Amino acid sequence: MRSSGKLVVPLLLILLIKCIICYNPGGRRELQSALISNKLYFYGGWDYSSGGLGDIFYIDLSQPFDSSNPTFQLQSMQAPKAAYSSVVYKDEIIIFAGSGDKIGMVNDLVIINETNFFVNTTTTKNSSNSNINGWPAPRRWHPAVIDSIKAKMYIWGGEDSSGSLSDAALYNFDLLTYSWNVNTLPNQPVGRRQHTATLIPDGKIIFIGGMNTPDIAQLDIYDTIANQWSQKIAIKSGNVSARYGHTATLTPNNQSIIVYGGLSYNLNQSIGGIAVLDLTTYIWTNYTPSGDQPASPNLHTAAIYKNYIIFAFGAYGIGSNNNYSSAVNILDISNNKYKWVNLVLLDTPSKQNPEATSPNNTKTGTSPNSMNTGTPPNSLNTGIVVGLIIVSVFSVGFLAIIGYLIYSRNKDKHDFESLESKESGNEVIDESNNEVIDNGK
Ligand SMILES: *[C@@H]1O[C@H](CO)[C@@H](O)[C@H](O)[C@H]1NC(C)=O
Ligand SMILES: *[C@@H]1O[C@H](CO)[C@@H](O)[C@H](O)[C@H]1NC(C)=O
Ligand SMILES: *[C@@H]1O[C@H](CO)[C@@H](O)[C@H](O)[C@H]1NC(C)=O
Ligand SMILES: *[C@@H]1O[C@H](CO)[C@@H](O)[C@H](O)[C@H]1NC(C)=O
Ligand SMILES: *[C@@H]1O[C@H](CO)[C@@H](O)[C@H](O)[C@H]1NC(C)=O
Ligand SMILES: *[C@@H]1O[C@H](CO)[C@@H](O)[C@H](O)[C@H]1NC(C)=O
Ligand SMILES: *[C@@H]1O[C@H](CO)[C@@H](O)[C@H](O)[C@H]1NC(C)=O
Ligand SMILES: *[C@@H]1O[C@H](CO)[C@@H](O)[C@H](O)[C@H]1NC(C)=O
Repeated sequence: MRSSGKLVVPLLLILLIKCIICYNPGGRRELQSALISNKLYFYGGWDYSSGGLGDIFYIDLSQPFDSSNPTFQLQSMQAPKAAYSSVVYKDEIIIFAGSGDKIGMVNDLVIINETNFFVNTTTTKNSSNSNINGWPAPRRWHPAVIDSIKAKMYIWGGEDSSGSLSDAALYNFDLLTYSWNVNTLPNQPVGRRQHTATLIPDGKIIFIGGMNTPDIAQLDIYDTIANQWSQKIAIKSGNVSARYGHTATLTPNNQSIIVYGGLSYNLNQSIGGIAVLDLTTYIWTNYTPSGDQPASPNLHTAAIYKNYIIFAFGAYGIGSNNNYSSAVNILDISNNKYKWVNLVLLDTPSKQNPEATSPNNTKTGTSPNSMNTGTPPNSLNTGIVVGLIIVSVFSVGFLAIIGYLIYSRNKDKHDFESLESKESGNEVIDESNNEVIDNGK
């Protein structure tokens, strides 16, 4: 905190205002993001000091947004969840299994309706390890994909509570009948954990990487239409290293899968750059995107939004070290050119100049990275913030006016870095002229 006399009070006020109306989720790993309309939701995850986390929060991408200092809003508190799988079906987020507040694994299905934020916890939970009625046994690190047309969610793999690979059966959950189906096929592959699953338009699910898969070229493929498994060895152009705890994102043109982050199979080190699988040639290629390279995470989230992939959270290191991220990093993938960008979204077409954002916009003038980058979560602080949200609704306006008055008196001192002073490399989207692309997981 700066101590230069009269600036301390306005700075405190501005940070306080930001604190009251925004949410500081803190660094974490083993969570998923879910894009519904313009809101990018995050649920829980894992943090070394607290264990499982149960907060649901979001970034509203229709509001002014700056990825170097994103504004999170708290939606609600639910049961702690980490290492689960998550898909979006219409306006619902479907979350399955994972760890609760402890390391032990569960197999409950949680369906969250975004329209009214109704959380259906009536879905049956089965703590036993057997697969009766097709309900999968408890597990974690099992990815899921959704076939929205058939209303079917598929899961495969993961790890059970003994630390062994889960059964390698392919499960699907029918969102129309709310029933599970288990599919054990003769040539099903050995399971994986901390791998990824990507459904491509021809109905195949491509499984990539994982802790027990020593070569990223080894792809397991399940064909949802033919109901059969196959294995494919992709071609590696250069040294594309094996990894786990990465993300895999289908590009909006359906031509490739972009893999980011994760830990290297041999060294347990986070992998920088991106690896791209061309779905026509099945060739893997490494790319180093242009722009400022962010520190590479693992067990992070990825969501596609327009021609951007929004990566968030994750761990920087391995195991139980407390170095968890809350950074939001954005990769521009337009025209198959890869570039790290600081994305700035504006709310109205008239506000072409970031400087023209309303003084009511609490982001203007706050110190970048002060609240929500790279800091481990502090549950006491979180509690205070939640409390403040409840008790301070009526004071926000008053504080905002005071804050703005004091801030504007000090504004020309340039003591805070504001949007206008950021280097070039910002990409500005005029929200009203663009369509939102649905979550392509
Ligand atoms: C979510 O809730 C809304 C309002 O009750 C309802 O109209 C909608 O159909 C629900 N979504 C699903 C997928 O059931
Ligand atoms: C909650 O989920 C169960 C399936 O486990 C379903 O049968 C039930 O209709 C759902 N309840 C609501 C209100 O959507
Ligand atoms: C859970 O497991 C028990 C014991 O294996 C079984 O009797 C029960 O039917 C299972 N419940 C579901 C919903 O699969
Ligand atoms: C390939 O990359 C991995 C991980 O970065 C590294 O350990 C290995 O030495 C590299 N192999 C070659 C042949 O460069
Ligand atoms: C990509 O695939 C999806 C799902 O099959 C389809 O809706 C979309 O139109 C495809 N996009 C392009 C550019 O072909
Ligand atoms: C990598 O991490 C895994 C899981 O924590 C561990 O079993 C393995 O020994 C580690 N390998 C190395 C080379 O550190
Ligand atoms: C956490 O990881 C980041 C990214 O690798 C690194 O810059 C930073 O020094 C690490 N911090 C600690 C305390 O290890
Ligand atoms: C700030 O907010 C007030 C109250 O909502 C509104 O009347 C005013 O027009 C806003 N100022 C700007 C510059 O948008």
